Amino acid sequence: MLVNTPPMGWNTWNTFGNDISDALVRESADAFIDLGLKDAGYQYVVIDDCWSLKTRDRATGRIVPDPEKFPHGMKALADYVHSKGLKFGMYSCAGQRTCADYPASFDHEYLDAKTFAEWGVDFLKYDFCFCPRGFKGELLYRRMGMALRASGRDILFSACNWGVDDVWSWIRSTGAHMFRSTGDIFDTPESFRKIAISQMNRLNAHGAQCFNDMDMLTVGMYGKGNVGAAGCTAADYRSEFALWCMCGVPLMLGCDIRTIDREMLELVTNRGLIAIDQDPECRQPYFMHDPEREKKLVVFRHLDGGKYAVGFFNFDDKERDMTFTFSDAGLTAASGLGFRFTPVLGPL
Ligand code: GLA
Repeated sequence: MLVNTPPMGWNTWNTFGNDISDALVRESADAFIDLGLKDAGYQYVVIDDCWSLKTRDRATGRIVPDPEKFPHGMKALADYVHSKGLKFGMYSCAGQRTCADYPASFDHEYLDAKTFAEWGVDFLKYDFCFCPRGFKGELLYRRMGMALRASGRDILFSACNWGVDDVWSWIRSTGAHMFRSTGDIFDTPESFRKIAISQMNRLNAHGAQCFNDMDMLTVGMYGKGNVGAAGCTAADYRSEFALWCMCGVPLMLGCDIRTIDREMLELVTNRGLIAIDQDPECRQPYFMHDPEREKKLVVFRHLDGGKYAVGFFNFDDKERDMTFTFSDAGLTAASGLGFRFTPVLGPL
């Protein structure tokens, strides 16, 4: 299965955690259409942890969707999502239980992959809790990678081992299409900055077919929901979204898209930023050297078609001067050349 550009979608975890339902997923799929998210490129509607009963079905060994949360079952829900021209995602885990203590896929990889395929699942987020001793992540992700390929359906494989065991050095070999590279995001400016800064030297394994996943966005959450924490300002969310786009990583929204406000909707559907994120060359960005990287950051990236993107990020709480040094980007003074700038997203 070819995944040529970073996947874009929405995931239930950041806002809803355990509080998920058939109605929530249907309403969110509707919002993809009504708000123009689908037109902007968002495609995957993903249910995270907490969707099943606490035990597998005794007779069949299969994981059973919680009938109170999902009374029509997963096939009907997948059909609904597909009827909107969208793709349907689900969640499992490489260990014996999921992180929220529901049945997970260890030693059931082939049965679960087949079940997901029968339901019409297009995307599987695969977590890393409760793995038995002696089984390395590398093997467990390889197992699910094989099972998905044997399932008879194209299913995007989204690995989520939080960056442990130098995941970037082996993840491509497992067949995964994206890989979480850090611990969980929370809705604070410190959290998204820490994630981005930690990945500056880790975007080398990332590229078409296997993207570094810096976690679901908190943009628009304003402190509400499962990973709500203290929340961010609109200006912080502009930084967060623009940083993810400059890095060319998956864009998985995590706010309640049914109630997203106009300003945040405009941000997450900004065509210029999304074009940078989805650039077909999938190059890693270059982070300009700066001793004060925690406070200010200048990012440069080659794009397709003779274009370049430059991002200026002020993480300080006061105004800062920032310098983009042409020669650091590879453009020498002797060349006599320069750049023509077109703003994509200005300061607030
Ligand atoms: C882990 C993952 C999160 C989320 C939860 C669900 O913490 O990193 O993204 O999937 O598990 O329990």
